[in-house]
Amino acid sequence: MTAIPASAASRPDSGGASPSVPRHVAIIMDGNGRWAKKRGLPRAAGHKAGAESVRKVLKAAGEAGVQCLTLYAFSSENWRRPETEISDLMGLLRFYLKAELSALHKQGVRIKIIGDYKVFPEDIVKMLEDAMALTAGNDRLTLAVALNYGSRDEMARAARILAGQVAAGSMKADAITPEAVDNLLYTADLPPLDLLIRTSGECRLSNFLLWQAAYAEMLFVDTLWPDFGGEAFRGALDDFARRERRYGGL
Ligand code: FPP
Repeated sequence: MTAIPASAASRPDSGGASPSVPRHVAIIMDGNGRWAKKRGLPRAAGHKAGAESVRKVLKAAGEAGVQCLTLYAFSSENWRRPETEISDLMGLLRFYLKAELSALHKQGVRIKIIGDYKVFPEDIVKMLEDAMALTAGNDRLTLAVALNYGSRDEMARAARILAGQVAAGSMKADAITPEAVDNLLYTADLPPLDLLIRTSGECRLSNFLLWQAAYAEMLFVDTLWPDFGGEAFRGALDDFARRERRYGGL
């Protein structure tokens, strides 16, 4: 049997030779509540400390040459939390958007929101859209923030769009390839996901980037998110650099 040449470029998501620095890192920032509880503090204090970790990790990612950092800040399931906690998270989002936007812009960070963020309070939607518009031309690093995001919703949304196109006759059912689906996900313009990290010892994806994680390396660490800073992030990149990725080949 003739072997099919396994050029790196033909491997799914490889985008050429495997990079030693991941192009796209996603993080499930878990453990804020436990961090606060251990200190006898309200959960909101854990989220505030978690937001500080975001700042540190973003800096480390930029320094390392990561092209895109995607953070799971609010899932479509997080609405089940008590109203006070939801309102604390919204308050934090307002605070950080106001406080950090101009610094992020100066650092060349492009802000992108993934998920159905339009259901958020009107002032937040406006702040998010202004932040995306202001930073749209930046290319040092993309910070993709997942807000009211759910991976299965994202895939169902793509399926609905494709079904509509087929019904309208502008798309053939046979033309529904993985690439066609990929192009309709929120992440269509982001590099392939190379590394997915979850903090706090939980080992599940919780409806985050299920499609995009097909060939991503996974790293589950015990550290609670507020304790995960620049050094821990660099450790994760070192771990990634040691992984051998085969994309289904040998
Ligand atoms: C998970 O910890 C964390 C979240 C649901 C929110 C993540 C938010 C931040 C890091 C703050 C920055 C984000 C915004 C929106 C400004 P958990 O509460 O589930 O922790 P636990 O599992 O220990 O209870």
